[in-house]
Amino acid sequence: MCGIVGYFGNNSAAPLLIKGLKRLEYRGYDSAGVAIMEQDAFTVTKKAGKVKELETKLKGASVKGTIGIGHTRWATHGEPSDLNAHPHVDQTGKFALIHNGIIENYAVLKQILEQKGVEFYSETDTEVLVQLISMIYHEDNTSFEMAVTQALRKVIGTYGIVVMCSDEPNQLIAARLGSPLVLGVGDGEYFLASDASPLVEHTRNVIYLEEGECLLIGDDGYEIKQVKNSETVEKKISHIDFSIEEIEKGNYPHYMLKEIYEQENTIVDTMRGRLRLDEGNVHLGGIQDHILRIERARHFYITACGTSWHAGLIGKYILEEFAGIPVHVEYASEFRYRDPVINSQSVVIAISQSGETADTLAAIRKAKENGCLTFGICNVVGSSISRETDCGIYTHAGPEIGVASTKAFTAQVSVLYMLALHLGRKNGYSKEDGIKLAHALHDLGDRVKYILNQTDQIRNIAEEIVDADNCLYLGRGTNFPVALEGALKLKEISYIHAEGYPAAEMKHGPIALIDEKMPVIFLAPHDKTYEKVVSNIQEVKARKGKIIIVTDKVTDDLKSLSNHVIEVPVSHARTFPILATIPLQLLAYHLAVLRGCDVDMPRNLAKSVTVE
Ligand code: G6P
Repeated sequence: MCGIVGYFGNNSAAPLLIKGLKRLEYRGYDSAGVAIMEQDAFTVTKKAGKVKELETKLKGASVKGTIGIGHTRWATHGEPSDLNAHPHVDQTGKFALIHNGIIENYAVLKQILEQKGVEFYSETDTEVLVQLISMIYHEDNTSFEMAVTQALRKVIGTYGIVVMCSDEPNQLIAARLGSPLVLGVGDGEYFLASDASPLVEHTRNVIYLEEGECLLIGDDGYEIKQVKNSETVEKKISHIDFSIEEIEKGNYPHYMLKEIYEQENTIVDTMRGRLRLDEGNVHLGGIQDHILRIERARHFYITACGTSWHAGLIGKYILEEFAGIPVHVEYASEFRYRDPVINSQSVVIAISQSGETADTLAAIRKAKENGCLTFGICNVVGSSISRETDCGIYTHAGPEIGVASTKAFTAQVSVLYMLALHLGRKNGYSKEDGIKLAHALHDLGDRVKYILNQTDQIRNIAEEIVDADNCLYLGRGTNFPVALEGALKLKEISYIHAEGYPAAEMKHGPIALIDEKMPVIFLAPHDKTYEKVVSNIQEVKARKGKIIIVTDKVTDDLKSLSNHVIEVPVSHARTFPILATIPLQLLAYHLAVLRGCDVDMPRNLAKSVTVE
């Protein structure tokens, strides 16, 4: 939520900051701004709207400095406007600050500052922090560094910040608590960003700031200290392992479409080196050190948000079926504030593409406080959740830029299948069955290709239902979460109201909505629920709903019952949920494009939700 960048070096800062902000725009895109230091004064340029609008505004100004900070915003306090955009400047005009997070005690601090005569310009919580830094700097006659650290010690909430001060123009100060910040170490130059994607074209050497750390960049290099006591911290440099091509759109019109197509490889990449085809098992290196505790767990809690929560729900079905261990799936935002019955016999699995979602991170911390083993399923290597969990399995889907998650979801589900297979083998799932499932997982890439080849047919379906105001997605068992995910994709990017429901539950409410205008998408594989789902299809047909079926085998019966059938051929019945998600992603994509929506940056959303 909100993207922040900083540059300190010898090149012109403005174009570098703009480029960095474009890479981070998925984190927020309602307004943007930069502050650039020139000699001993900085210029601030801000604009409501996307980074492109800021870029245009900057082109008219000749800003030449080589030190600067930039921000792309997702509004929390105060509407998106030029005034509320970051950077924020204190009333003396000496400090400029960008912030990702929420200052929770801003109202109290603001009152104190106002009583001292400070005049506020914006409606943001962030401005309180820059005014507080300035107040301490002037009242205590202290240094830039001490003013920032003293102010941060008074703050309750979360922050990733970068600050500049015109009295010490050759210094940038950054700090983190709850919002990520990465330092890119170049050759005589430094880059700062909320994640590594803007850094990769400049340097592969990065340092991830930890909670409560403060970074000082100056002419003599950089130093990292603890905010709480100003003690220096020694940090190791890590290396970014993804390439620039992975974060470019290539020939695709949208990142989302690129990422949908990448699933042909990403699902395979997730399982690469982990499947033991001959043994009908898997090897999961990231959890080996804790494997006994996982195998003997009394129960699992899976905690996540959004699409990752849907992956968790599929995990519940398959882990209970294979491993025979009770699994509870909870929204992280609920889990963190209630009193779940957890202890040292509980394993808490956090699923998160970004590894930075504030609620999921907080849920993990709560689990640790209660003595649970914590286990992360993350996509972003080195992310907060992956570092704070006791063990984990990376999804290896590569950077996901489209705000609506696609390839991360199928990768998360693939990891859960591997975990289920491993635990299943301990729980009596035979070697023979294990071999069949391992081979089916291994072959998913080809099946994905088959589905992607149906994109024209899916676009035709989208053309037929493009004017729908509502859509219903129905499935049973493991396909109920797939229905939820299909509905979420549609809502997110096409703004069509959609609901996912267990197919049988339709009778208890949603059936009232069905008429000849209502598309109803059924997940109907030929498994033990097939006959029941067909009955539900009949019920919708009787009420004239438009029926679209996703199945593993097209039959005359299904054709006669529906307006359209999409085939997802599986070699193993249990893999249907992974594959069935893909036509639903394509359907949402085509509908959004046909409706003229901004697919990669849907309104009001952000990819990485680092606020509660
Ligand atoms: C946001 C994104 C979703 C994502 C969710 C959880 O809402 O728009 O695509 O599923 O956050 O994010 P995470 O990074 O924790 O998986």
